[in-house]
Amino acid sequence: MSKILDVVNVTAGYGSDVILKDINFEVIDNDFIGVIGPNGGGKTTLLKLLLGEINPFQGHVNFYPSSKDETLFGYLPQVSTIDREFPIKVIDIVLSGLMHRNGLFGGNKNINRKKALEILSTAGVEHLWNYSVGELSGGQLQRVFLCRALISQPRLLILDEPNTYVDNKFEKELYELLRELNKRMAIIMVSHDVGTITSYVKTIACVNRHLHYHRSNKITPEQLAAYECPIQIISHGKIPHTVLLDHRKEAKV
Ligand SMILES: Nc1ncnc2c1ncn2[C@@H]1O[C@H](COP(=O)(O)OP(=O)(O)OP(=O)(O)O)[C@@H](O)[C@H]1O
Ligand SMILES: [Mg+2]
Repeated sequence: MSKILDVVNVTAGYGSDVILKDINFEVIDNDFIGVIGPNGGGKTTLLKLLLGEINPFQGHVNFYPSSKDETLFGYLPQVSTIDREFPIKVIDIVLSGLMHRNGLFGGNKNINRKKALEILSTAGVEHLWNYSVGELSGGQLQRVFLCRALISQPRLLILDEPNTYVDNKFEKELYELLRELNKRMAIIMVSHDVGTITSYVKTIACVNRHLHYHRSNKITPEQLAAYECPIQIISHGKIPHTVLLDHRKEAKV
């Protein structure tokens, strides 16, 4: 197993606003990292940093091998950031997941199209292939973007709240799919549904301006309180159970 990327002493943000401070973090093949933290804490900003969409003010993000082009990402953006007005068909959204590999017009069109339809079918939305993005429900959109993230069979799959809008049935299928995919790719997943994800992820990064990395999927309410991460958390042994943290260090089980 080898390192995919590391983030060394990074401070980053937008304009003159520092959002992430002194971040150190690494991603290794077959990692399954759950990213948790409060709204506005900087989770999406961290993903943008990994994807190279924003550059650090200080510090470095290093990719291995050193050329980022060789490190293939699959990215499912947070649904709230997707432009629903953009006139693009479902099939083209999925095909755009191959763009960084093939270029805009590269690859075999028929093979790629067949691949896109197959992957849409595994997500149960093949019938929507000719719909425009504005015609989809939130859950359908989420599934389509998951297909786009997966079509290139990336080395690192980055998911920003993939379970928003999806129904219980697909959510369970999604997590089972991710468990299967994790055998051949590393995964970073942001979610507020910590109760469920800690049953699937291997490690947890808690992001609230700073990043605290737990090399385990267990995290105690005391640790969370220390990180000012006031969210619902699970601590699980054989039987998962949810601990509701209410800011007063008292936990209800
Ligand atoms: N493009 C941008 N320009 C300026 N500020 C931004 C931009 N995107 C995010 N921010 C600010 O950065 C901070 C962190 O935002 P970010 O989207 O990373 O949080 P988050 O942890 O993903 O939150 P959520 O749980 O709501 O998705 C917020 O204060 C937000 O207002
Ligand atoms: Mg976010």
